[in-house]
Amino acid sequence: MVKAMRRWLCCIPGGGGDHEISGGQERDYLWEIYSLKEIQHATNNFHNDNKIGEGGFGSVYWGRTSKGLVIEFQIAVKRLKAMSAKAEMEFAVEVEILGRVRHKNLLGLRGFYAGGDERLIVYDYMPNHSLITHLHGQLAADCLLDWPRRMNIMLGSAEGLQYLHYEANPHIIHRDIKASNVLLDTNFQAKVADFGFAKLIPEGVTHLTTRVKGTLGYLAPEYAMWGKVSDSCDVFSFGILLLEIISAKKPLEKLPGGMKRDIIQWVTPYVQKGAFEPIGDPRMKGRFNHDQLKMTVLVALKCTDSNPQNRPSMMDVVEWLSGMNRTKEVRTMMSKNPKDAHYEDDEETDRYTSYEEVTDYESFEAIEKVVDKGKTPPAPRKAR
Ligand SMILES: Nc1ncnc2c1ncn2[C@@H]1O[C@H](COP(=O)(O)OP(=O)(O)OP(=O)(O)O)[C@@H](O)[C@H]1O
Ligand SMILES: [Mg+2]
Repeated sequence: MVKAMRRWLCCIPGGGGDHEISGGQERDYLWEIYSLKEIQHATNNFHNDNKIGEGGFGSVYWGRTSKGLVIEFQIAVKRLKAMSAKAEMEFAVEVEILGRVRHKNLLGLRGFYAGGDERLIVYDYMPNHSLITHLHGQLAADCLLDWPRRMNIMLGSAEGLQYLHYEANPHIIHRDIKASNVLLDTNFQAKVADFGFAKLIPEGVTHLTTRVKGTLGYLAPEYAMWGKVSDSCDVFSFGILLLEIISAKKPLEKLPGGMKRDIIQWVTPYVQKGAFEPIGDPRMKGRFNHDQLKMTVLVALKCTDSNPQNRPSMMDVVEWLSGMNRTKEVRTMMSKNPKDAHYEDDEETDRYTSYEEVTDYESFEAIEKVVDKGKTPPAPRKAR
């Protein structure tokens, strides 16, 4: 921690330190300190055309830059809103922690800049944007998420979360698992973003309220009602995210007449009837592995149990999802771009049929037993 502060002070103009981070060999962190000039140059001085989006903490800009021996690469720069001195120190510690966290399913932190009023965080740019863009946004009509990709994204984001809960040091509770915080790289691999930054919100700041409102559909009841945070809050949000990936329904839906219905209330009657097919995103046109769909829905319901003690750990979830993924054909399908696939073609239909056939049914039965143990689907709850 002390080291973190020392390094932090090093990079604040007038902080008393050397502006260079010393020797590559001693480095136990992976981020770089950027100069404001470098970032301004990369983002065309935060030009509006470079703006990717806006969230609770500030705006995100696309940029292109080079650093060290790496020739040129794309970055996403989060330009934070102004913060208090206390929040600044928290920011430093967060950056230090996040800079050490490396996992294939977590968005890599490339570096940061802090000086004057500017607090800039530099990430790898994710060319396939976020899940929200594909499920409900600009890319939804392109139908790039076929079932194998969805399965892969569910497993990948579960693995990222499992790493945060069990392997990261200190352990990290994300607190804001949602579709806009799962980004997709060139190969549609999931990268969980914004872990740890929930702590950056200073108490009493208005956007804390906005933020909570904005992600209401994902909040575990004990967190929403009593502010109780634990890793099982992330498990709850992850369950909601699973249902959202499967169905492309929003976590909270406004019904005609102004009533709100959450995704669990929507899915429950189908599960009670044993009708799993209508739960699948209609844009997949029924082209999904029916057993996998059923099992992922059951896992999601287990994750969203209203009692946190009944929820599984992310270890269990990863085990269940990876058991479902153990099919040869799913792997083959995953490496293919769905845009190149012509599903109406007989050959493609055959391929889908055959991958249903090689599904690992033994592992399904095992999951079903664990997931279903003594459990009836939760009764519809009042809209929050
Ligand atoms: N590294 C990145 N590559 C590509 N797009 C990104 C990257 N980081 C963020 N984005 C996109 O920029 C937009 C704004 O992100 P941001 O994290 O600021 O807001 P948010 O996720 O909508 O809300 P929150 O502030 O609660 O995280 C989102 O659409 C997000 O998917
Ligand atoms: Mg985000």
